[in-house]
Amino acid sequence: MSLYPALSSMASQLTWTVILILASYLLVRRLSQSRVKYRDGLPIPPLVGNWIPFLGNAIDIARGDNFWRERMSAYGPVFRVNAMGSEKIYTVDPSIISWVYRNSKTCDFPWYRRHMSNHVYGMSRDVAFSPVWDEHLFAMHHRAMSPGMIGTLSERYVDELEVLMSAWTKDVEALGNGQGTLVDLADSVFDIMYIASSKAFFSSSFPAKESIPAFKAFDQSIPLLLLETLPSLLMSPARRTRTDLNKIIMDWWKTIREDLKAREALAPSLIGMLDTGEEEGWSDDDLVSCALPELWALEANAPYAAVWTIVEIVRRPALYDLLYEEITQAIHSLSPSHLSTLIHSTQPELLAKCPGLNAAFQETLRLHTSSFSIRKVMEPLVIPGNLITSGPGKGVGYSVAKDDDIVCVTRHGHVSTDMEWGVTADIWDHTRHLNANAKTAQMWPFGGGTSMCEGRHFASIEILTFLISFIHTFDVQVVSDNMQVDMTRVGLGIIQPKGKTIVRLSRR
Ligand code: HEM
Repeated sequence: MSLYPALSSMASQLTWTVILILASYLLVRRLSQSRVKYRDGLPIPPLVGNWIPFLGNAIDIARGDNFWRERMSAYGPVFRVNAMGSEKIYTVDPSIISWVYRNSKTCDFPWYRRHMSNHVYGMSRDVAFSPVWDEHLFAMHHRAMSPGMIGTLSERYVDELEVLMSAWTKDVEALGNGQGTLVDLADSVFDIMYIASSKAFFSSSFPAKESIPAFKAFDQSIPLLLLETLPSLLMSPARRTRTDLNKIIMDWWKTIREDLKAREALAPSLIGMLDTGEEEGWSDDDLVSCALPELWALEANAPYAAVWTIVEIVRRPALYDLLYEEITQAIHSLSPSHLSTLIHSTQPELLAKCPGLNAAFQETLRLHTSSFSIRKVMEPLVIPGNLITSGPGKGVGYSVAKDDDIVCVTRHGHVSTDMEWGVTADIWDHTRHLNANAKTAQMWPFGGGTSMCEGRHFASIEILTFLISFIHTFDVQVVSDNMQVDMTRVGLGIIQPKGKTIVRLSRR
């Protein structure tokens, strides 16, 4: 008898045995996940079932709204999710999210801010966890971005915006030859917003246009950099994008480091960090890693919020005309009656003069954001039973351990048709913000509690002034439009668009 068939049959038996063991392991693992676990006599939040170790529910999360809707109906408003080797507690329920935001001592955010400075932005651990952040820098940053403090910054932004809009208008006129010019809205709007805002924050010496490709590459790497459990080798392409952007910031920083006058033109939040860092003797690398999150926070959301708002408006020609009318009337009410007077107004004046435009912006924030607020649990706590409407913790509550992470998924309340925003919640309709009754519904596009976006007032000025300038300047006709939300990137604020909206622009 030849040896080969015997060996081949052994190999095949071995293969089947391995498959059987693996399948049994996965089945037992899966079944054990559905057992309710208890701590100190209370249930802990149920674990969402998954079949693949390490990967867990990572792919399911990219299914977007359906994932959260189905999990909420299967497990109740609080559950644990395993994704990429990391297990966290998630809540999608507005009343529990409010409760987490209110309990800011036990559900701590600053720990994460420091951790991200180190892990995502590459700041050295000593600097990221330096006491100077608690003693001075967090409060300074918060103050510098408050409505009363951003006047000069906003003026600088609007000045830059006017220059860029004027150049764009000339290009449109020159290229269009009276027939209008075809424009990819997402690309053009992103570039204008990015250049105007980065020059406002980092002064006109900043290589704004040149840094866009490096910024976009780094921004695409953020979801990978946020993962805490990925092997270093798999992380290195993402870290390279950070190095590339850091190099641009470092080269620029070296040109203004000794130039006191140039430094005065930086945003107060940035000056505050750089001055303190230098007094503390931080390295240039650490100083640049203070500037990097500033640039990311500035550009990862606001330009895309402007893109989404203008796309939603141009999709509705009657609304475009209505808003043009609103802007024209607002300009006529001012002296001198110029576009420039309107866009140099304060945020409260802009909101009062352009309610329809602000409603369009608010509706875009409601429908096109997905913001996760993450908290580190500092001591054991119980999520009260009266907040748990279904699942094993109904009426009794859930036990949460020290060092657990709680993530508030704010979007679910914005878009669920069976929650506060009602049966049309999944449809873009700016009029709901013009209706006084709708004001009571919760909306957290900027996160909430202690981690609420500090740049929200500046973002509102940026976006409203851009929209006013655009609508006042151009006639628009949509030529093709397949722009949609990219649900593979959630939890970071604006859901970025995929696809294109091509329009024919001509000067009014
Ligand atoms: C429409 C535009 C924007 C959106 C949707 C947005 C959204 C967010 C979100 C979701 C967070 C995290 C909230 C949380 O964890 O609970 C955040 C934090 C932050 N944002 Fe924004 N943001 C926008 C524009 C800006 C701008 C223009 C700046 C200016 C620099 C900015 C600066 C910040 C800062 C500094 C934080 C961190 C706050 C902290 O860590 O305590 N954001 N933003």
